Amino acid sequence: MNERRIGIVMNGVTGRMGLRQHLERSIVAIREQGGIEAADGSMIIPEPILVGRNELKLRRIAEQYDLTRWTTDLSEALAEPDVEIYFDSQLTQLREKGVRAAVEAGKAIYCEKPIAEGLDAAVELARLVRDSGLKNGVVQDKLSLPGLRKLKRLVDGGFFGRILSVRGEFGYWVFEGDWQEAQRPSWNYKSEEGGGIIVDMFCHWRYVLDQIFGPVRSVYCQGATHIAARYDEQGKEYPATADDAAYGVFELEGGIVAQMNSSWATRVFRDELVEFQVDGTEGSAVAGLRRCRAQHRSATPKPVWNPDLPATENFREQWAEVPDNEVFDNGFKVQWEMFLRHVTSTADDSEFPWDFVEGAKGVQLAELGLQSWREGRKLEVPPLGIESRP
Ligand SMILES: NC(=O)c1ccc[n+]([C@@H]2O[C@H](COP(=O)([O-])OP(=O)(O)OC[C@H]3O[C@@H](n4cnc5c(N)ncnc54)[C@H](O)[C@@H]3O)[C@@H](O)[C@H]2O)c1
Repeated sequence: MNERRIGIVMNGVTGRMGLRQHLERSIVAIREQGGIEAADGSMIIPEPILVGRNELKLRRIAEQYDLTRWTTDLSEALAEPDVEIYFDSQLTQLREKGVRAAVEAGKAIYCEKPIAEGLDAAVELARLVRDSGLKNGVVQDKLSLPGLRKLKRLVDGGFFGRILSVRGEFGYWVFEGDWQEAQRPSWNYKSEEGGGIIVDMFCHWRYVLDQIFGPVRSVYCQGATHIAARYDEQGKEYPATADDAAYGVFELEGGIVAQMNSSWATRVFRDELVEFQVDGTEGSAVAGLRRCRAQHRSATPKPVWNPDLPATENFREQWAEVPDNEVFDNGFKVQWEMFLRHVTSTADDSEFPWDFVEGAKGVQLAELGLQSWREGRKLEVPPLGIESRP
């Protein structure tokens, strides 16, 4: 079988997402399984070139995963003759510079969300990338989660009847960093470094809502910085300047009301770190990262409000597990495989739907969320003013 080796510059692999999800669970996993089959029957084998700031860390990561190519010089990496793809999972603020260098070098581009910190920059970057004619994509990992895949299956199968509402709970306690180390990087809590849960999570909620339930038409967002001071990676106290919780209400096309609570200052009393409850005229479902449970109208109990009595039934037990019916791979890997096939194919761009224009929509919702919080009012979501390439 023919092999097609594709050089991928991976910028930001020393970070949480870059290392664990993109390098280890995606690219290294694809290499270990012997590559993936392209449309023409050849095997695509990704050849990563690790890029970062810290030589020592890069060398260690390369050794750990049996890789040989790494550098602290992005332009040197982009100039390697076999490189076809630039991937960016650096902290958000640095993304634009990296992407611009890749456009200049004429490489296909794949990157983490958000594509930029603000809407103007995101649209400008999306336009640059689109007009360059280069293949491009943005991670939309939540769509590949088993729980959400099963939820989408219920939507597509008409299970809900008319969907009325969506309620999402996302979050967990992120330690302040004094007596227990914080499990997220300190830049997440500094607006001057591109942090904040609205910028981080509204990008996800945009594509989840748009693509599973219907286009987002308006947003009302109440943000908060619940924890005012935190401790950084060096144990030094710093003021938290970015929001660490966001309470959002979104209206979707068709009158669906979606509420999303996102918080790094909440303790989990849920089965999973994110859960969505969808209520429809014909049935309801609760989906998390992995599980999805449903209740049809025919099996809906009829509780009567009586605060004088203890609950008479176990409501959770009345839900039915939605079966997997297929094998779910890691969501980041699934999307990497799609993007690799897309880059090697000659078909049109529709086979990888999540391009930079889709990425910019996430930034748009985040920016509107921040504005809504600042101004204390609901805002319409206007058209982005830029279309994907036909
Ligand atoms: N898809 C998802 O679910 C998801 C989840 C978390 C983060 N992200 C996104 O991934 C990107 C990286 O997030 P992360 O949590 O991996 O962050 P991280 O802090 O763990 O990693 C940041 C990366 O950027 C590099 N970097 C370059 N210059 C830097 C600087 N001056 N300061 C700090 N780091 C610098 C770091 O070396 C590191 O490789 C962000 O854009 C974030 O929004 C996506």
